[in-house]
Amino acid sequence: MASELVNVNEFQELARRALPKMYFDYYNGGAEDEHTLRENTEAFRRITFRPRVLLDVSRIDMSTTILGYPTSAPIMIAPTGLHKFAHPEGEVATARAAAACNTIMAMSFAADCTLEEVASSCNAIRFFQIYVCKRRDVTAVLVQRAERNGFKAIMLTVDTPRLGRREADIKNKMIAPQPKNLEVLLSTEAVSDTGSKFAAFAAETLDPSLCWKDIDWLRSVTSLPILVKGVLTAEDAIKAMEVGVAGIVVSNHGARQLDYSPATITVLEEVVRAVGGKIPVLIDGGVRRGTDIFKALALGAQAVMIGRPVLYGLAAKGENGVRRVIEMLKDELELTMALSGCPTVKDITRSHVRTEYDRFN
Ligand code: FNR
Repeated sequence: MASELVNVNEFQELARRALPKMYFDYYNGGAEDEHTLRENTEAFRRITFRPRVLLDVSRIDMSTTILGYPTSAPIMIAPTGLHKFAHPEGEVATARAAAACNTIMAMSFAADCTLEEVASSCNAIRFFQIYVCKRRDVTAVLVQRAERNGFKAIMLTVDTPRLGRREADIKNKMIAPQPKNLEVLLSTEAVSDTGSKFAAFAAETLDPSLCWKDIDWLRSVTSLPILVKGVLTAEDAIKAMEVGVAGIVVSNHGARQLDYSPATITVLEEVVRAVGGKIPVLIDGGVRRGTDIFKALALGAQAVMIGRPVLYGLAAKGENGVRRVIEMLKDELELTMALSGCPTVKDITRSHVRTEYDRFN
């Protein structure tokens, strides 16, 4: 009998065994030297705790709200593309797991299931992640379909004017189906003799001229709140607030875009300070443990989003695998809160962690 899985990292190996190399590499890889990919997880390890004792932790409450929507824990599913590489049910299975765990799923622009399929499959609270296409009318239709189908927010990814160099995909000459939700809207047949067809599709479709002023345009085509995903500096956090977004996601796209971007956890506090509590700040990148989630909350995040572990759970065990990943992270967070003297997420403060920068102050 296989030994019991004890943490989410163990799903990575199960996924590697379950998937064809091209699919696993697409999920697993980062950009160029993968420096940022390693840093995203390593930087969490450099943060230590300042736990408090003799506080009543007989009941731990992890519940919180994100944009006003209640969730069982400050954990969301990050938008990641092509879930049918992992499992035939694709995003429908992921959304059902989100519903079962009472958490929020951000569905990707590059999903393999339609907005309508996911909406009718379960009652999970869902956000929709978009890129802005050169054809603005296509983006407008997508956003309006999301709104009609009960998605609660638009998450605009702003770190992808072009696709990063993912060398594993280039070597594999990665082939990907066109994003399902674009099928009837675009008839692009991206052709590339060398390298990744996915990259060729992105180059042909996405609009690299997108600017801050275009958030106004996006707002003119939807009444949903808009989050921007991919902010890594105080300067851009301030710009995001100036254009009136509802929230910020500190993200380096799981280290798949600009290599040598900082690990997200190292810049979270800079962004949180710039925002000054006016709008929620979420974070993703390298979150693999309940302790990581606690650290992110201590440094001011409202919640974290989980990317690759969800895909590995889906590849290994379908909907149940995704549930297991979220439950494991919840269990670990609950224990971390108890051992740190924090019965609720509001009790988690900056004074509960020590970062590498604190030592110099
Ligand atoms: C992503 N990510 C991503 N982001 C986005 O805005 N739109 C997308 O379609 C995708 N697609 C995607 C595919 C795959 C395979 C991965 C691994 C990631 C980035 C994702 O939302 C998130 O920022 C990172 O995955 C978070 O880092 P971890 O948790 O994977 O370390």
